[in-house]
Amino acid sequence: MRYRQLGRTPWKVSEISFGAWAIGGAWGTVDDRDSMAALHAAIDCGVNFIDTADVYGMGRSERLIAQLKRERKEDIVVATKAGRRLSPHTADGYNEANLCAFIEDSLRNLSTDALDLVQLHCPPTDVYYRPELFEFLDRMVRQGKIRYYGVSVERVEEALKAIEYPNVQTVQIIFNCFRQRPAELFFPVAERRQVGVLARVPLASGLLTGKLTAKSQFAPDDHRNFNRHGEQFDVGETFSGVDYDTALAAVDELRDLVPPRLSLTQFALRWILMFDAVTCAIPGGKRPEQVKENCVASDLRELTPEEMAAVRGIYEKRIRTGVHQRW
Ligand SMILES: NC(=O)c1ccc[n+]([C@@H]2O[C@H](COP(=O)([O-])OP(=O)(O)OC[C@H]3O[C@@H](n4cnc5c(N)ncnc54)[C@H](OP(=O)(O)O)[C@@H]3O)[C@@H](O)[C@H]2O)c1
Repeated sequence: MRYRQLGRTPWKVSEISFGAWAIGGAWGTVDDRDSMAALHAAIDCGVNFIDTADVYGMGRSERLIAQLKRERKEDIVVATKAGRRLSPHTADGYNEANLCAFIEDSLRNLSTDALDLVQLHCPPTDVYYRPELFEFLDRMVRQGKIRYYGVSVERVEEALKAIEYPNVQTVQIIFNCFRQRPAELFFPVAERRQVGVLARVPLASGLLTGKLTAKSQFAPDDHRNFNRHGEQFDVGETFSGVDYDTALAAVDELRDLVPPRLSLTQFALRWILMFDAVTCAIPGGKRPEQVKENCVASDLRELTPEEMAAVRGIYEKRIRTGVHQRW
């Protein structure tokens, strides 16, 4: 496992880190024993950064991570998020009282006195135009409740706006073979300002593992069933917002690029790591085998310019029209 500097924080984090949404919920039934095994496998592979949120299983994901921290002696940086428990989810809901309460809940769930990194959880765009909220986050840092803060965004323009606030340390954004726009405008600015970039949904909700087919079925409580058309949250969070059949055709072409002895999963993760602005990819993992397979991506050789161009070609031909200008 290789490590990269997380923006201006003191932490060097694993290039392949761990996304802890699925172990909380919204991905069908998960067994906590499998989830704990997956988390332990990640630490065994050198992962030292975990992304979670208060809303993932309403504290379940955070509590599993607290248990992991009790069971392991390694240093583990935990990034959580706040805001998505608001109902309705409005810009006005992102106020001091609500955020204080969310932070206290996360402190309790994670059994800690200070949260390493708190990210605003894809708030409405208006929130980025409320400097008083970022001043409040600065106060939370001064009070020692949180060490650093960042944002998780839906859109490139939100990312650019958010990093105008000098103490936003990280931006989490969807970035994968099917979501290439962040690399165009946002990455150069993030690098210049030394902002950490967390590439989320790196496997396009499993599509980029190559295992899904036209016949794949998803449980009713799996967002790949209930949010396919954005019924409950931004459609871009499910399959990266790419039309399913279009994505399958693109995956078939990507498969042809995968070198012998590698999986499409590993190729797709290595593709993300080719971008220096990216601090880490945070693939979700439910089982140890998945985590181990994903972590190998960090140790692979670089992709060649020809391989990079071929991925871009598939994106231009099949994906761009449907996603490029949407996020
Ligand atoms: N708004 C936000 O801030 C936000 C939104 C989305 C995600 N995130 C963060 O980003 C993380 C990653 O995104 P994601 O979990 O949505 O999507 P993802 O990483 O693209 O896909 C994860 C899913 O793919 C499957 N998978 C993973 N590794 C695999 C492997 N080696 N072989 C086969 N299948 C594999 C697993 O599901 P199955 O086994 O069920 O197929 C897993 O749950 C999340 O966990 C979360 O921490 C944040």
